[in-house]
Amino acid sequence: MTKMFSLADSLERTKLRGKSILGMDAFPTKNELEALFEVASYLEPYVGTGGLNLLPGKVMATVFFEASTRTRLGFESAMQRLGGRIISEATPMITSRITVGETLTDTLKTISKYVHIIGMRHKDADAAYKAVEEGAEVPVITGGFGGREHPVQTCVDLYTMWRTFGRIEGLTVVIPGPEIITSRVSHSLAYGLAKFGAKTIFATESSGKAPDYVREKLKAMNAKVEEVVDLTKDQLDELMGKSDIIYMPAWCRGIPEKEPEKTKFFEWAKKYYIGLGVLEKAREKGKTVYVMHPLPRVEPEMDFNIDKTKNALYWDQVALSLPVRMAMILSVLWGT
Ligand code: CP
Repeated sequence: MTKMFSLADSLERTKLRGKSILGMDAFPTKNELEALFEVASYLEPYVGTGGLNLLPGKVMATVFFEASTRTRLGFESAMQRLGGRIISEATPMITSRITVGETLTDTLKTISKYVHIIGMRHKDADAAYKAVEEGAEVPVITGGFGGREHPVQTCVDLYTMWRTFGRIEGLTVVIPGPEIITSRVSHSLAYGLAKFGAKTIFATESSGKAPDYVREKLKAMNAKVEEVVDLTKDQLDELMGKSDIIYMPAWCRGIPEKEPEKTKFFEWAKKYYIGLGVLEKAREKGKTVYVMHPLPRVEPEMDFNIDKTKNALYWDQVALSLPVRMAMILSVLWGT
């Protein structure tokens, strides 16, 4: 981390100029991710001082077909701190011409005429990837497409690990959640960790296992990955207590009002709940187990008192997301 580097050299080595970031495939090896981290660490001191005027005249559109707090506003804050400008469509399902049946492809083709880069989220991964391929004429950074991938979050997560541990190699990350199958942050994180030779353990339900295409891709990457299913609460706590990081995959998407979903939710919440006990037990054995979370979170999934301990990394993730988002946008747009 103390290695000297120049901004231009690091930007070059991200190999992102003019490219879309639609998954962790945008980073062929850990080298491109490390170059991105160098750019982020260069930009980090400027976050609190109003930023740097590196992208004057550049315009970004944020188009979010699904709700978001961090990703959309984080993109916008990052672009403004780089000296660029923003146009935003936060509720296109209500306020864009998608409402009269305009296709996503035509929508992206239109927006491409107005801006230099698009940040986008969509709940239908197939439709979103197809429309980007057919309609986007400028680079697109996905802020999450369906249950497939969320590479921006993963870059933030990996950077937070890199800043905390000084390395990612050799870490063991447990991802406990009942539905890894639809967890885009879990899929992207496992791909990212694999590039560094770190180990991912999915701890899930037999009904929520990672999709076959994720497992096959990880196998092709020679990833250190395990999947354990239907553990008891005690078994899960024991597993988490031995890890370096518990990565909570934001599996709670609100508390269901109807049965049987409501009962199932509270059964899962009981099992996957992260309390102070598991962290304190590990501390007694001389180990700090960090807790990461992409957020949003809800109370049934964790003890909010973890915020007061040094185990909590999720607010660092939020803060560090700004230099990382700045680094991603700058790497795509510099020299264009
Ligand atoms: N972590 C994340 O993607 O948060 P938002 O859903 O608020 O964007």
